[in-house]
Amino acid sequence: MPLPSKRGIDIAASPIRSLLPYADAAKREGRHIYHLNIGQPDIVTPLEAREYLEAQKAPIVKYGPSEGLPELRSAIATYYDKFSAGLTNEDVYVTTGASEAILFTLLSCCDPCDEVIIPEPFYANYLGFADVAQVDIVPISSYLEKEFSLPEPDEFVKRITSRTKAIFLCNPGNPTGQLYDEDQLYSLIQVVKKHNLFLIVDEVYREFCYDKAFKSVLAYEGIEEQVIVIDSISKVFSACGARVGCLITKNRDVQAVVNKYAQLRLCPPYHGQQLALACYQNPEPYISSAKEEYRSRRDSLYELLSEIEGINYYKPQAAFYNMIELPVDDAEAFCKWMLTDFEYQGATTMLAPASGFYFNQELGRKQVRLAYILNKEDLRAAIICLGKGLDSYKKLVQ
Ligand SMILES: Cc1ncc(COP(=O)(O)O)c(C=O)c1O
Repeated sequence: MPLPSKRGIDIAASPIRSLLPYADAAKREGRHIYHLNIGQPDIVTPLEAREYLEAQKAPIVKYGPSEGLPELRSAIATYYDKFSAGLTNEDVYVTTGASEAILFTLLSCCDPCDEVIIPEPFYANYLGFADVAQVDIVPISSYLEKEFSLPEPDEFVKRITSRTKAIFLCNPGNPTGQLYDEDQLYSLIQVVKKHNLFLIVDEVYREFCYDKAFKSVLAYEGIEEQVIVIDSISKVFSACGARVGCLITKNRDVQAVVNKYAQLRLCPPYHGQQLALACYQNPEPYISSAKEEYRSRRDSLYELLSEIEGINYYKPQAAFYNMIELPVDDAEAFCKWMLTDFEYQGATTMLAPASGFYFNQELGRKQVRLAYILNKEDLRAAIICLGKGLDSYKKLVQ
């Protein structure tokens, strides 16, 4: 029997989904699972988008332009006016989710063995996409004790080599839920300018910032040609299944290369793009109500966590994630045990073990990521269940 590729076998598995077989088994046994493990929002997709889907009668679902439907590119460029991004339609490439935008960015900016510096913990799939693009990730650790603030510019400078092609940030952060400080970002931009690097920023959570205003990296002057922004409708409009995102750059040379990759995969999903267009028609009321809901969940979660003994946690400023450190030796073993051996009132809580969000996996050994994507009642029940689980586990392993 022929064997699958070694690189496929070696590729990092998703820490968000790795425990799913245990969750499925628990469901078959009749236990309810509170899913705090995955960033699948429960907020209803905008009405305009759902109306679009219901009205569909197209007899042929055709290919569209590789760079995306012109009316959607224009709607996205206009949406960015509120971030003073100064975009034209040509700066926006519609992709199959932010996922494809990440891959296109790495393939367009880097050659095999080029290095990209990324603060860790980071969105776990960056590892897989870097593997596919044969790009080396050079991590800089950020720490829970410092609330995962952006490492100092010197830390980046120390890691720059002749192979460094880009600095890659996720702002606001998944899994940290943190928003980088504007001044710190400005200092890092000076490093990017001086060393003539690309600055790639995944901003898919930009609309969910609770304590201070968000400034897009597209609004900084003097690095226009160096910036690539990754975006998506998945989180902002609770439309993960539409598979629509975009890659934004004003660099004409990069655009030309992205265009070739875009043509290779023919076009982004047609219906997903129409749905996205409906979302961008009048986005503000929807976005502000979703943001308020997440803010209130963030506050509740913070209060609920204060009732669990022995954990280390902070108040995240953005997105809908929180990293916490548990009083256990191995958070992954605990998360698995919660699914295989524990229940409280007929239910258990599923979390994402954090080691998969780190390049240096040991740093996340005691940590988990929580996604506050459940309504407040379920969130409360999920955290109470987590607390009870920790109590039982402590007795078991003592
Ligand atoms: C930071 C970040 N970037 C990209 C993605 C992928 O988004 P999409 O659904 O648009 O592919 C996610 C999904 O969770 C994410 O959290």
